[in-house]
Amino acid sequence: MKTAVIVGAGHRSLCYASYAERHPDEFKIVGIAEPSDDRRRIVGERFGIPEERRYRSAEELVAVPKFADAAINGTMDRQHVPTTIPLLERGYDVLLEKPFAVSMEEVDALEAAVRRTGRRVMICHVLRYAPFYVALKERVLAGEIGELIDVQTAEHVSYHHYSTAFARGKWRRLEDGGSSFLMSKCCHDLDLITWFKSGVAPVRVSSFGGLHYFTREHAPANSGEHCLLDCPVEEACPYSVRKLYLNHPDRWVFYVWPELEESGDLSIEAKTARLKDPSNPYSRCIWKMDNDVADRQVVAIEFADGSVATHNLVGGTSRPMRKIHLLGTTGELEGVFDDNRFVIRHSDTRPGHEYSETVVDLNNLGDTTGAYGSHGGGDERLTADFVAILNGREKSVSCTELADSINGHRIGFAADRARIEHTVVEL
Ligand SMILES: NC(=O)c1ccc[n+]([C@@H]2O[C@H](COP(=O)([O-])OP(=O)(O)OC[C@H]3O[C@@H](n4cnc5c(N)ncnc54)[C@H](O)[C@@H]3O)[C@@H](O)[C@H]2O)c1
Repeated sequence: MKTAVIVGAGHRSLCYASYAERHPDEFKIVGIAEPSDDRRRIVGERFGIPEERRYRSAEELVAVPKFADAAINGTMDRQHVPTTIPLLERGYDVLLEKPFAVSMEEVDALEAAVRRTGRRVMICHVLRYAPFYVALKERVLAGEIGELIDVQTAEHVSYHHYSTAFARGKWRRLEDGGSSFLMSKCCHDLDLITWFKSGVAPVRVSSFGGLHYFTREHAPANSGEHCLLDCPVEEACPYSVRKLYLNHPDRWVFYVWPELEESGDLSIEAKTARLKDPSNPYSRCIWKMDNDVADRQVVAIEFADGSVATHNLVGGTSRPMRKIHLLGTTGELEGVFDDNRFVIRHSDTRPGHEYSETVVDLNNLGDTTGAYGSHGGGDERLTADFVAILNGREKSVSCTELADSINGHRIGFAADRARIEHTVVEL
């Protein structure tokens, strides 16, 4: 049995902590550090955490001797490194949310702390654990497409997701959320690219993009400042908060209604009142916010072996989607994560043929892991791997300890610099 303490009892920590509820003989939550009184109480009761093990902050927790094997750190981006280093020094191994740092200086500081303390930090790159990406990785490792020379990935962030997390959400301003659109949304994809190119260093990065659509100039003519208070064109607007949040009351609950979740009143009346409160960012016109993170970005990467990769990120799309195309010297793999299906192609030189194609449909495999948490079952598998590591078992092919995760973050920080400074960054 391994034990853990929750640090930051928000949405993400609970995805991982809930593993203990499904596997009570393997994993137990024995403490919590959380400033919100309501969250601390609700989560404390849910996991049966004794009062004396409920702390008001990570800082309060590290002031007492270590009492669990590990910490699940699901604080916000800017708190990751400042809270994790003292946890490591206290002797905890840490499961740490991504992006695990907000600058290269923080990456270096965390790496040094891991070396100094000999503790482990595993990063929540949950997509590495999704069966879709694992199946692709296994085929690359087996040499099915030869030497990997080009990786193309894309993430399309839907109109409702972009509104909720970015234009109106807590990652809308770099200063407040701590991360750019690229780092908060796609450090996963950059991590996947470096995972597929494992052992080969990225050497050069360029990038273009910015915030161009979700700006005041694009607001519909005659629009107001608040959808439900003063907007004459609300009915015709695709970004009306009524359409996004009242017509879909179960969507993004943990982002849009955290106060209501804590109070337990998630009625339509309570939600409508929140959307009519002008101090609530979710009441405001999407084009008249104080947002400054990008709504589109492309990244181009060159690796030391001459191979190349691109990542394409767009906010505000109709369909949410992650795409990947891996091109090797003898074949290619192409698929859409959200479809849970990919194809493998090889040249077919026989007369009358051009290429052969086999469809791999993971929906047919009867895997029900996706039922727990999100990311195609990645959340559940990642936590299982973390517990296995705590038990001293062999880590899986997906395991992303700090050292494995650094290249993806280096690319992300370099890409943001390249985009802003209009330059090519040498790593
Ligand atoms: N792996 C993924 O795919 C994925 C997906 C979404 C978000 N995330 C990341 O997860 C992290 C958490 O996101 P979230 O939406 O769960 O956030 P959240 O705001 O719901 O949770 C953060 C919690 O930390 C608490 N906190 C603040 N200061 C603290 C302190 N000093 N000590 C202890 N707790 C403190 C807050 O009160 C809050 O409850 C973010 O970094 C985000 O980027 C990862």
